[in-house]
Amino acid sequence: MVLYEEADVSGSVVNGGFNRRLAGELAEMQEQGVYKTLLHIMGMQGAVVELEEFGETVNLCSNNYVGLCDVPEVVEAVREGATRYGAGTASVRFICGTWAIHRELEDRIADFLETEASITYTSCWNANGGLFAPLLTDEDALISDALNHASIIDGIRLCKAERHVYKHMDMDALEDALKKTMDKRHRMVMTDGVFSMEGEIAPLPVIRELCDRYDAVLTVDDSHATGVLGDTGRGTPEHFGMHGEVDIITSTLGKALGGMAGGFTASSRPVVDYLVQRSRTQLFTNAIPPYSACGAMAAIDYLEAHPERVQKLRDNTDYFRRNLVGLGFNPIEGDTPIVPVIIGETAAAMRMSRELLDEGVFVIGFGFPVVPKGEARIRCQVSAAHEIGHLDRALAALDKVGKRLGVI
Ligand SMILES: Cc1ncc(COP(=O)(O)O)c(C=O)c1O
Repeated sequence: MVLYEEADVSGSVVNGGFNRRLAGELAEMQEQGVYKTLLHIMGMQGAVVELEEFGETVNLCSNNYVGLCDVPEVVEAVREGATRYGAGTASVRFICGTWAIHRELEDRIADFLETEASITYTSCWNANGGLFAPLLTDEDALISDALNHASIIDGIRLCKAERHVYKHMDMDALEDALKKTMDKRHRMVMTDGVFSMEGEIAPLPVIRELCDRYDAVLTVDDSHATGVLGDTGRGTPEHFGMHGEVDIITSTLGKALGGMAGGFTASSRPVVDYLVQRSRTQLFTNAIPPYSACGAMAAIDYLEAHPERVQKLRDNTDYFRRNLVGLGFNPIEGDTPIVPVIIGETAAAMRMSRELLDEGVFVIGFGFPVVPKGEARIRCQVSAAHEIGHLDRALAALDKVGKRLGVI
């Protein structure tokens, strides 16, 4: 790691004043203990990963929720896809043609989520980034939970609709915003299905009821719920028994569904066809590589054939949460495999993460601006890839470090 307090950046070819300002701010971040350091994994994603900097660690830091990243059927599908279709598309779909395998995946996603259609993007970041601006104009209103994912916030910034941000999961505040926007042509309510930093599940039945009452479109980013929630991993709608009741779902292929790159929007045929016409984050960029499409389809097939993976994830989550509380920790309550423990200051959360790494457990600390000021946390993520032995190792390290740092 470069130590910016001591680094001499004068020899750089980049503009001197500009480069010095950035180096100065980086030095401040380092001094305050909030500088992020990238950690490098040496092998496959799994329950245990080897970090270049720390050796073998129990992995409580991945979105590999149902453990599909190293499932042979998925890996083999990627290999076969690369053999059949090559390295990539070198093509924007509407200009240079698209691949039948993309259409097949889009049909498969729609079938899995019981929607009419879906469209894929190279990431869910791009799905959210390209969603709002084409569908809504200044005649409309967008109403968004305060803790929605950064990709939603940025996507909304690109849209001319009137913006309303309601206090996190506060249904009265949501209703107020809906009332205030009744003069608009359309209202769209946007929420994460599962909030990535809190692990909380959005109260979808109440939100749906409000959307019906005020004639609003309901859009859910289910990135941390697809493959995770519901008996068969179909996400937040399945969790609440609300299949077919969400107007638009965005989600990722980069977490539970095999962890590859890719995202999608699933909805009615007109919504999807409209995005094909107007969504800039798929109109002016490549499609996902065909091998990723093959891998994602194999991941969906595998999940459908193995719903016990979802149950194992649930059992592991119960075990981890119960024992964490037993040790004296006070994680944010919830039913999802995202188990955050609030520490307070960013530097303290980062220190705890660092000491856990020294004890062979990979957990990361998050601070402002990723989470609100004063609510820095370590975020533990449980996976179906874990065996009880892995979770016990992690709990023992959390106990040791938690006591040492006075967290418990
Ligand atoms: C809620 C949510 N939406 C979208 C994304 C972006 O997903 P992707 O990695 O596919 O861009 C993430 C990733 O962290 C997320 O947590």
